[in-house]
Amino acid sequence: MENKRILAPSLLSADFGALAASVKKIEEGGGDVVHVDVMDGSFVPEVSFGQVVARSLRPLTKLPFDVHLMVQNPERQIESFAKAGADWITFHQEAAAGNELQLIEKIHSLGKKAGISVKPGTSVETLKNSLNSADIILIMTVEPGFGGQKLIPECLDKVRELVKLREELGLSYKISVDGGVNERTLDSVLQSGVDVVVSGSAFFNGTLGWRR
Ligand code: DX5
Ligand code: ZN
Repeated sequence: MENKRILAPSLLSADFGALAASVKKIEEGGGDVVHVDVMDGSFVPEVSFGQVVARSLRPLTKLPFDVHLMVQNPERQIESFAKAGADWITFHQEAAAGNELQLIEKIHSLGKKAGISVKPGTSVETLKNSLNSADIILIMTVEPGFGGQKLIPECLDKVRELVKLREELGLSYKISVDGGVNERTLDSVLQSGVDVVVSGSAFFNGTLGWRR
């Protein structure tokens, strides 16, 4: 992954009646990757979509698919999402049940980038063992599950902490921020030192004001 700010528009805020057009909109709007929010109705309240949808969208674009697994038992979904065309696969620390390193290894063995995510109430401390091997650390700045929520500014402290740790430990993971990024919050998000910016509602309603 190159060294610039990466824009990851989230399909969760797309028009599900016109997903192919939404993928084009992501390309035309300067998206670098397509953020694919997978929700299982258990880790989060609602169900979004799964491998079947990812597989049909895959031929429509060359952009990488950044799959965000908001699911319990992520180990059951990793291989099939890799086959469905995922390029980055991110699971939640809270759903990993102590198997973070095995999950990262599994994703790597499939030739994909591995991400680990934390909800707003989960500390960076819980990621310590994963920092060496993860490619992406995804900081949720809202409670996962719904687009269009308000960013929790305190969560950006975790981004600053991860920037500092990366420097101290000589690591190279990318830091991603997901939730509530819009024209009002974008500056503070960029200033925190983030590498990947996920945006759902503000991207699709045209108000993000994206700049790298
Ligand atoms: C939330 C998802 C996000 C969401 C972001 O659970 O993980 O990716 O779609 O949407 P906005 O940008 O509207 O907060
Ligand atoms: Zn997401």
